Formats: sequence, structure tokens, C-alpha cells
Amino acid sequence: MASNSTQCSKNPSREVGIAGAGRVGRSLGKLLNERGQKVVAVASRNRARAEAAAAFIGREVQAVAYTDLPSTVDKILIAVSDDSIGRIANTLAEAGLTEGTVLHTSGIYGTDVLAPLIAQGNSCAGLHPLQTIATPQQGVQKLPSATFTIVGSGRAAEWAEKIVNLLHGKILRIAPGRKSTYHAAAVIASNYIVSLIDAAVLVMGAAGVDPKAARRALAPLVQASVQNALAERPVKALTGPIQRGDIQTLALHLQGLALVPASIQQLYRAVGIQTVQLARKQGLDSAVARQLEHLLRRSK
Ligand SMILES: NC(=O)c1ccc[n+]([C@@H]2O[C@H](COP(=O)([O-])OP(=O)(O)OC[C@H]3O[C@@H](n4cnc5c(N)ncnc54)[C@H](OP(=O)(O)O)[C@@H]3O)[C@@H](O)[C@H]2O)c1
Repeated sequence: MASNSTQCSKNPSREVGIAGAGRVGRSLGKLLNERGQKVVAVASRNRARAEAAAAFIGREVQAVAYTDLPSTVDKILIAVSDDSIGRIANTLAEAGLTEGTVLHTSGIYGTDVLAPLIAQGNSCAGLHPLQTIATPQQGVQKLPSATFTIVGSGRAAEWAEKIVNLLHGKILRIAPGRKSTYHAAAVIASNYIVSLIDAAVLVMGAAGVDPKAARRALAPLVQASVQNALAERPVKALTGPIQRGDIQTLALHLQGLALVPASIQQLYRAVGIQTVQLARKQGLDSAVARQLEHLLRRSK
């Protein structure tokens, strides 16, 4: 991308650049721009993507290359795939970013991933939205009032807090050095629920129900289960054969699941074992719990 056609004048105190033209970059960029944090540039490896992101974020936003950002802004929000954050940090450092303020939006990393930038006097922090953003439009809807985790300190952490306040969000504090554990919890609560619903639709398919009808039929069940589990402690929300100790029902499920791929059978067994732990907390008889666990752990 030719930097001379897209160069913006640098205003260190106010202007923001977004590194990454994906879902979080676009949605957070648009929200910041609308809420007084003027975004002047968005960078991508691909001009068409950068231009589409710039158009999404706001009228005066320039599409640039990653290497253009240091000469354009000194506040940068890095919203690239987790595995490429280190590479982009290197690129920005090599392109001369010093004394800047940099945030990344990853749930898995602390500030170490931005080491090349820290070494050049940049203040760095992480700002992770604890929300799922499937499209930029959905991000614009869901990020206001979302919960965010901040790691790091100094100017960058202050900027992160300011962004959370602008979005009327909440800040979640986690124990130092526990980001990967925290992020595993987020993945269980979000991605794994999606996979569980997909598995339920596939199993319904094996029972002769088409996917659309299955999704419609399962929706009230899924919604009520999630609502009940979150309204009080999950242990109070648990119902079903494991909670009741219906050993024969569980054995019949395992037979019925012979019709579906092994990965779904394993999923049923693994979540079932955790469900037995929950049922034990609800008072399930230990001998029954052991029999249920034995069934779930037996391969055939
Ligand atoms: N989506 C979510 O639900 C969500 C929620 C919370 C946090 N996050 C975090 O936000 C960050 C961005 O996630 P996202 O969902 O917005 O990702 P995305 O939509 O897949 O976009 C990722 C961006 O990374 C850029 N990128 C730069 N170098 C790359 C490389 N070598 N390989 C692959 N991509 C590269 C791509 O930009 P170009 O190809 O345009 O250069 C792409 O636009 C991640 O750290 C993620 O963990 C995501």
C-alpha cells in the first residue's frame, strides 16, 4: 500500500490507529470514532480490506499499511489474530513506533507479546472484550456495556480504562499471570456452547429431524437452561437423567449415540462426567454417581 497517498498528519494527543481490518478492529474502531476517540487510520495487509474497514469505521479514516501507522498516530489498537500480534508488534517497532500507547485485544496474551514495542519506550496493555463478535455489525451492538479485562499498567492501561468507560462497560480483574486460564473459561462459555448446540442439532438429525426444525425446537430449551444456570448457581439449575440418577436412561443414550460420529459420543461422555460432579454437589447418591461415571468412562 503506498503510504504517500494515505499519509495523515500525526496528532499524538488525540488520534487513534487500528491495526487489523477484522471484526474487532472494525467494530471497536467505529465505536471509538463515534465516542470521541478520533480514528484516523486502519491498517491491513490488503488494500481492499483496509478500505472496507476504513469505510465502516468512519468517513475520514484512511486505509494504510501496518508500516504507515507509526508515522500517522501514536495510539494504536492492535486487533489482529492472536498468532500475528507478535509479528505486528515487530513490524510497528521496526517502522519506528516509540513513546506511543498500544493496546491489543487478545484474551490469551499479557503484555509480553508486545515486548519489541515496550523495549522502544511504548506503553502497552491488553484490553480484551469478554464478548463474542461474529461480525463487525454485531460488535458495534454488543461491545457497549460489555465486560472487558485489562492487563498492563501506565498510560496504555489508562487508555484501556477510558475506552471501557466510553463504552459504559465493566472491568473484570483477573489474577496476575492467569490470562490463559481466564481465556479457557471464556472459550468454554462461548465457543463450546456453540459446539454443544451444533452437536445437539446433529444428534437430532440422527433422530430424523432436519437442522432448521431442530434449531427451532431446541431454542427454548437452550435459552431456559442458560437462563437458569446464570440466574443462580449452575448446581441449582441442573435437571435430567444424571441429576435424577437414571442409570438405565444414560445407558440407552449411549446406545442411541452409536448413530452419530465418535467425536459427539466422546463429547457426551466428557460433559456427562462433569455433569456427574455437579449432580454430586446437588446430593446425588455416591454409589449411583460411581455407576454413572463407570458407564460414561467405559469405551463401549
Ligand atoms: N471475534 C471475537 O469474538 C473476539 C472477541 C474478543 C477478542 N477478540 C480478539 O481480537 C483480535 C482480533 O480478532 P477478530 O475476531 O477481529 O479477528 P478477525 O476478524 O479474524 O481479523 C483478524 C485480523 O488479523 C489480521 N492479520 C494481520 N496479520 C495476520 C496474519 N499473519 N494472519 C492472520 N491474520 C492477520 C487480519 O488483517 P489483514 O489480513 O486485513 O491484515 C485480520 O483482519 C484477536 O486477538 C482476538 O483474540 C476477538
